[in-house]
Amino acid sequence: MSQRPLPVELPRFRLASLPTPLHDAPRLARAIGVDRLLVKRDDLTGFAGGGNKVRKLEFLVGDALATGADTLIATGGPQSNAVRTAMVAARVAGLDPIAVLYGAPPPGREGNLLLDVLAGARLVFTGDPDRAATEAVAEELAAELRAAGRRPYVLPRGAATPVGDAGYVEAAAELAAQLEEIDVQPAAVVVANGSGGTQAGLIAGTAWLGASYRITGILVSRPRQEAVPRLLELARSTAGLLQLATEIGPRDIHVEEGVPGAAFGVGSAEGEAALRLALTTEGLILDPVYTAPTLAGLIRLVEHGTFDRTAPVVFVHTGGEPALYARHGEDEGTGAAMPADPTHVPASFMHV
Ligand SMILES: Cc1ncc(COP(=O)(O)O)c(C=O)c1O
Repeated sequence: MSQRPLPVELPRFRLASLPTPLHDAPRLARAIGVDRLLVKRDDLTGFAGGGNKVRKLEFLVGDALATGADTLIATGGPQSNAVRTAMVAARVAGLDPIAVLYGAPPPGREGNLLLDVLAGARLVFTGDPDRAATEAVAEELAAELRAAGRRPYVLPRGAATPVGDAGYVEAAAELAAQLEEIDVQPAAVVVANGSGGTQAGLIAGTAWLGASYRITGILVSRPRQEAVPRLLELARSTAGLLQLATEIGPRDIHVEEGVPGAAFGVGSAEGEAALRLALTTEGLILDPVYTAPTLAGLIRLVEHGTFDRTAPVVFVHTGGEPALYARHGEDEGTGAAMPADPTHVPASFMHV
C-alpha cells in the first residue's frame, strides 16, 4: 500500500526528513518480554535535534506564513523540545523567534535552551514557576507587538492544535503503509501523551484509515481526567479540519497511567531503568521526561498482562534527546525545577 495522502491540503513549510524509519528492536523486545517490538523513529525527523514537534511545526509554520506572520512566539519550559524546534524552525522560515519560558533563567545554557540561544531566539523568562502563566505573558507580548505594527503568531504549549496535529494524521498514514509493507498487524501503538496532540493526530489518522490497532497513550504530564476529554476533543477537531470521513468516540481513546514519579523526568527509578535499557539493548537514546517514562509505562503494561506478549507492539520514539544533556533544566512536563545544585541531582542520574 502506498501512503494515503491527506484529503485536505494545508499550508506547509517542509522541515522533516520523511518517512522516518520503522524497525525491529529484537533485544529490547526480549528484555521486556514481548515477541516483537517495532520502533517508529520519530526521534529521527531530522531537523534541529528531531522529535515529534517537527511534524507539527511543518503545518504550524506553514499556517503562520500563510497568515502573514513575521514573528513566532512559543511557550514552555527552558527544556521544552517544542520551543527548541519552534525557535529554529522560525529562524529558518524567516520569522523572528521568541520563547516565553517559565521561571527564572537557569544558571547554564544547556540542552534545548542552548539551541534556542544559538538560533538567536529572544528569551523572555516569566519569573513565575507556574507553566500556565507563560500563555498570558505570550498574549501580552503579542498585543504589544501588534500595537507596534508587527504580526506575531502564538503557538500553544506543546504545539497541540488541529493544524499541528495534522502532522500526526500524516504520520499515521506513513506508519500504516510501513506496517503493511512488512505485513505486521500490531496490537497497539504506544506513544507519550503530554499535550496530547501527537496521540490525537495518530488516533484521527488511524480511525480514518480504518486500521484495527489501538493507539495507547502513556500519560506523562496530565492527570487522566484532564487528558481524556482533551484528547477526544483534539482528535475530533483534527479530523474535522482535515475532513476525515470518520467518527471518533470514547472507544478510540486509550490512555494508561505513566510511571509514578516519572513525570518529574529525573529521579524515577523505573524511568531511568527504561532509559538505560533502550540505550544498552538497541542504542536508542530516550529523554528523561517523555520517552523514558513512556517505555517504562509500556514495560509495566506488559508485566501486568495488559498486552498480549505474542502480538507485535509499536513504540513511537518521539525524540527529546537534547533534554538529556541539560543538568540545570526545568521539566517541561510538570514545571518542577531540577535543582541547580548538582549535588542534589539523584545520584544514579549523575553517572549516566
Ligand atoms: C520528546 C517528546 N515526546 C513526546 C511529547 C508529547 O507529545 P504531545 O505533547 O503531542 O503529547 C513531547 C512534548 O513536548 C516531547 O517533547
